[in-house]
Amino acid sequence: MNAASTRPAWQALVTHHAHIGSVHLRELFAADPKRGTRWTVSAAGLHLDYSKNRIDDETVALLSALARDCGLRERIGAMFSGEAINTTEHRAVLHTALRASPDERLWVGGVDVVAEVHAALARMAAFSEQIRGGAWRGHTGLPIRHVINIGIGGSDLGPVMAHEALRHYSQRDLDLRFVSNVDGTALAEATRDLDAAQTLFIVCSKSFRTVETLTNARAARAWCLRQLSDEAAVARHFVAVSASAEATAEFGIAAAQTFPLWDWVGGRYSMASAIGLSTMIAIGPDHFRDLLAGMRAMDEHFRHAPIERNMPALLGLLAVWNNDFLGAATQAVLPYEQYLSRLPAYLQQLTMESNGKHVTRDGEPVGCGTSPIVWGEPGTNGQHSFHQLLHQGTRLVPCDFIGFGQSLNPLPADGSRAHDSRDRQHDLLMANLFAQAEALAFGKTADEVRAEGVPEALVPHRVFEGNRPSNTLLARRLTPHALGALVALYEHSVFTQGVIWGVDSFDQWGVELGKVLAEKTAAELAGADQARPAHDSSTAALIQRYRQLREERP
Ligand code: F6P
Repeated sequence: MNAASTRPAWQALVTHHAHIGSVHLRELFAADPKRGTRWTVSAAGLHLDYSKNRIDDETVALLSALARDCGLRERIGAMFSGEAINTTEHRAVLHTALRASPDERLWVGGVDVVAEVHAALARMAAFSEQIRGGAWRGHTGLPIRHVINIGIGGSDLGPVMAHEALRHYSQRDLDLRFVSNVDGTALAEATRDLDAAQTLFIVCSKSFRTVETLTNARAARAWCLRQLSDEAAVARHFVAVSASAEATAEFGIAAAQTFPLWDWVGGRYSMASAIGLSTMIAIGPDHFRDLLAGMRAMDEHFRHAPIERNMPALLGLLAVWNNDFLGAATQAVLPYEQYLSRLPAYLQQLTMESNGKHVTRDGEPVGCGTSPIVWGEPGTNGQHSFHQLLHQGTRLVPCDFIGFGQSLNPLPADGSRAHDSRDRQHDLLMANLFAQAEALAFGKTADEVRAEGVPEALVPHRVFEGNRPSNTLLARRLTPHALGALVALYEHSVFTQGVIWGVDSFDQWGVELGKVLAEKTAAELAGADQARPAHDSSTAALIQRYRQLREERP
């Protein structure tokens, strides 16, 4: 496989960058009065304005040519049709089948995976309704009121993000909690005020071998049994989601209590599967179906729209442009929507576990920068913290702003909660979003600062150089459908970036070494042998220091 940077289209972009790299967004906007409406695309209820990127017609043409040269269209076809595009694990990549419509058919290894998906969704819906309606009774006959999802990585971040994002649609008398960290504090705090008789644990693990999850699940079972004092209680208070029914049975959760997953669903792409059981319990099957519909709408757009009008493809190509040609190492995601507070954390795994790779699918060095470092916080909080660096720091940080036309909690000026008067508080929130993107792009020149009468000594401090790229995503309101479209948008943007870099976006070998060393070290810490362990001098000394500290009196 040719490294991306050796392709003619890449080289053409290098040459092109030498020209446009020094052109300011002020000039680009001045040269084209229609720029702000021309560089936009709408799909699946989302509207993307990408005009505040440092691009012109030639940039978009060259990036599209690069995508064609890298076979983006063919790779999209291969993914949707179930080819084993995760080559290092010999797996198909079919999270799109999780939201396929029930009348579709997709055969993988002689099995219609769409039929399997819908059978699983029906089981999830029936179980969710039992929990929501109180028909499912705990061991002592009481209804479930607390649901604790135990999982980590993709078995946690999607459910956490979706629960927060769709809280407005959730059944409020059900209390959902999430435990991921193997730090015992997570489980202790999640259970400390709960009655086990009214608590359900969902143990989510695709592999059902993840140490953190199994450790927490065992501790949760012990907590449950301490209160209920009967092994039989486990059957009423624990369900599992896993691709391995054997492993869940070994743990003590029967097949009837296990919701399926398949090896063609990557952990970080699994929130539409039974990993989303907690989401479905919270918002109900109908809203969950709306979430899937939003994903499906974006899937269809990604599959069929030409690259130049394809929202995820454009977002991905712009990320490559900002990363590899403008030298931006990080990418900020700034939702101006409190309910999306966990979206940046979710996107960190999606993006960085997918494309944080140093070799191509053939095992050759990639020869260019790969995944940007993703981070972010909801606006306007970030404005009073790290936006200083975004505006005047020495690093280029492209930003994705995300906002909605309507708040889910309109607050009229007088503080009452009537829905018929203008929501000035939401206007204020959105005014801040628009202002941030505008300030980043256009800045303020020294002459403009002087014209305000600022003393000369302060002028450099008050200058904003601008020319800082951003995308703005808008939708009418944060619905399950909009969230689904947003998640699928980023999934496919990440896919596009991976295709350009030629990496396997669906494996995660980089997490293995730490796991192996942790296992070895945990055995050493658990053992009675206090001998100096076989590690480098720093690690060995730290372990010894830890052993001393853990014996000290509080
Ligand atoms: O260690 C990384 C990882 O494999 C992620 O890719 C995955 O989302 C997470 O661990 C949890 O895996 P599982 O669902 O198998 O417990």
